[in-house]
Amino acid sequence: MTVFVGGLWGLSEYTGRVFAQTDTVAAGGRIYRQKGDCQACHGWAGDGRKMDSQMPDGANLRESTLEREQLIFVIKCGLPGRGMPAFDRRAYTDDRCLGRTHDDLERMGLELFDPAATLQNREVDRLADFLYEKVIGQGQMDRAKCIDFWGEEVTACDEFLQ
Ligand code: HEC
Repeated sequence: MTVFVGGLWGLSEYTGRVFAQTDTVAAGGRIYRQKGDCQACHGWAGDGRKMDSQMPDGANLRESTLEREQLIFVIKCGLPGRGMPAFDRRAYTDDRCLGRTHDDLERMGLELFDPAATLQNREVDRLADFLYEKVIGQGQMDRAKCIDFWGEEVTACDEFLQ
């Protein structure tokens, strides 16, 4: 993404992004890395290079074509039988996940992976803000994106050439 420094429009867009980043995007990034531990299966960059070899192979989220609503649904209800945990505490206890319950899943032989922690709706929203800003549709990770992603030059960015 290009930042036009100088023009008034560019500047306001820039400050807008910085504000967005300090609030919801940064909070979403922390949830991705810490509370949700999404990176264990999806990799820190969301590119599917998982951090934990014992974990299922997560999808490459950078190439995801999901709309925001679908994305939020997948995070809350997971993908039973495919290794993606459900992060909504009440998933499969009432009708919020296509009306299916834990019993239904068991009957269908679909195993549900346990999440590191469950997330509140607000946290899932922040996660979505973060993913759309930094991961989904952002193309392959490169050095500039890596520095932007972490907010500084970290050693994780060394693998990307100048
Ligand atoms: C235990 C491993 C694991 C963890 C932890 C995990 N995922 Fe997944 N995720 C998967 C797997 C496996 C898939 C589906 C692969 C497939 O397509 O069958 C998946 C799929 C997805 C998809 C669907 C992508 C698409 O375009 O279809 C999204 C979105 C997603 N995960 C987001 C997240 C987020 C956000 C978190 C953290 C809150 C997370 N995942 C944590 C394993 C995991």
